[in-house]
Amino acid sequence: MASGVFPQNSDSPSSGSAIEVIQVYKKYGEVEALKGLSFNLQTGERCALLGPNGAGKSTTLKVLVGLLKPDSGEAKVGGFDPNSTEARRIVGYLPEDASPYRTLSVRENLEYVGALRGVSNLGERIDRLLDVLALREYERAKVGRLSRGNSQKLALALAIIHEPNILLLDEPLNYLDIPTQERVIELLNGLRATQLVSTHIMSVAGRLTDRVVIIARGGVIWNGSIAELKHLGKEDEPVESIVARMMVSAG
Ligand SMILES: Nc1ncnc2c1ncn2[C@@H]1O[C@H](COP(=O)(O)OP(=O)(O)OP(=O)(O)O)[C@@H](O)[C@H]1O
Ligand SMILES: [Mg+2]
Repeated sequence: MASGVFPQNSDSPSSGSAIEVIQVYKKYGEVEALKGLSFNLQTGERCALLGPNGAGKSTTLKVLVGLLKPDSGEAKVGGFDPNSTEARRIVGYLPEDASPYRTLSVRENLEYVGALRGVSNLGERIDRLLDVLALREYERAKVGRLSRGNSQKLALALAIIHEPNILLLDEPLNYLDIPTQERVIELLNGLRATQLVSTHIMSVAGRLTDRVVIIARGGVIWNGSIAELKHLGKEDEPVESIVARMMVSAG
């Protein structure tokens, strides 16, 4: 566990871990993006990965989904190597700047990815997602003609179409208007999956989860519940201000 200036919960890996990040280092050329990052999530847990721009959130998710290989250390999902077939089957991933197939329609994207994923009752599943995400009126529209927010909603639908046990979401509320954010928050809160959701906005973290792993400069500076985080501040100090102080003292 990385040490920090603020007290942290112990969080030792156990057989119930759905997500394990163990002393992961990752460089892009000379840039050290992750510097011995460690944390883990138990099965069914929901956790925000909170940190400022450039902290290493997207890099962490890419390591967990097998798109990047750590220089050292290890990441596991459901106990499996992120690149294994087993891991791919149980993980759903929303990348930052997700881009569904632009020349296919909304429904064709869902049919294609759903078929690749072997989703049973695919038609029904697609209908449900189109309704829940208010995409029904665009189902025949080519993705290249969608607004950025509607394209983001489709990307989210593609990430969850196979009802993954483990969900890795990189800034899922990006580009969404306020009513749509509410709709997506409700959708995510209703899922049983283990969820790790990156965001740089504390209030978003609080709506989606009750636990945060806060990272800055590639290392963990806080790992615990939002309730515990609030106790670190002065009376009535907003949690955003506590987090901002932490990030400043992390340098
Ligand atoms: N492909 C890349 N090549 C070089 N450096 C990179 C690359 N991707 C990320 N980095 C660097 O690695 C560090 C971590 O980046 P990362 O994208 O993981 O941060 P982030 O927390 O997701 O930030 P944001 O909130 O802006 O999305 C940053 O210093 C970034 O500039
Ligand atoms: Mg990012």
